[in-house]
Amino acid sequence: MKNIGVAVIGLGGIGTLRAHSCAQIPQVGHLAICDIDPGKLDKFSETIKADIVTENYEEAINDERIQAVIVSTDEESHYGPAKLAAELGKPVLIEKPFVLNLDEADDIIAKAKQNGSLAFVGYTQRFRKRYLLAKESVEAGHLGDVVMAFGKIYVTRAVGEAVARRSPNTTPSINTLTYMVDLILWYMEGKTPVEVYARSASKVFKPYNRDDFQWMIVTFDD
Ligand SMILES: NC(=O)c1ccc[n+]([C@@H]2O[C@H](COP(=O)([O-])OP(=O)(O)OC[C@H]3O[C@@H](n4cnc5c(N)ncnc54)[C@H](O)[C@@H]3O)[C@@H](O)[C@H]2O)c1
Repeated sequence: MKNIGVAVIGLGGIGTLRAHSCAQIPQVGHLAICDIDPGKLDKFSETIKADIVTENYEEAINDERIQAVIVSTDEESHYGPAKLAAELGKPVLIEKPFVLNLDEADDIIAKAKQNGSLAFVGYTQRFRKRYLLAKESVEAGHLGDVVMAFGKIYVTRAVGEAVARRSPNTTPSINTLTYMVDLILWYMEGKTPVEVYARSASKVFKPYNRDDFQWMIVTFDD
């Protein structure tokens, strides 16, 4: 049954992956691809058979053939398309990091709720077997009450530079450690974080006005 129309906004590294996947899903009857870079649209409209090809995300998201939206722009530009999808009541998958400030995050969540829609953040690590098994073990009570969790994540310097170039306002925590924050909050479901203490320093990434690393201690209400 072909009955879902999906718009993929942003055809970079992850957006092309999402668009190729959507193009192979039999239930996706209509596909829109959108990027502000017309060169990317030219390049991918050869391999991704899309019904709507546009540089304007409003055109893609407003189209009545579209019922769901994937926002895979760089993080600086998640807010506009995610907000529009939420306003129109169209479920939206937003690549991590959700958005770059709390007001924008609250606004998208409120609009999705008001319009009976859903907003998901693409925390893809949750679908990895090792992290899923940990979640199942926590839920089954195999680990008892989890009183402490520790997570660390590294990226190469090349990845750090790519992120710094595409997003002037992100940080190692917002871009990368966010995966660990998500997993640990997921494992600690039901507990509320009440305090965050963080330290960071910048040396290698100083030319990008960016920290090299960030550590944080999150204290929960229990
Ligand atoms: N879930 C994962 O595993 C995963 C992996 C990598 C990246 N990401 C996240 O996905 C997002 C994209 O990362 P990327 O590496 O693909 O970035 P990228 O820079 O390769 O691609 C971003 C694309 O968005 C386009 N764009 C920017 N503003 C736009 C707008 N207003 N309308 C339409 N297109 C627009 C750019 O032209 C570019 O082609 C980031 O938020 C990143 O953190 C998630």
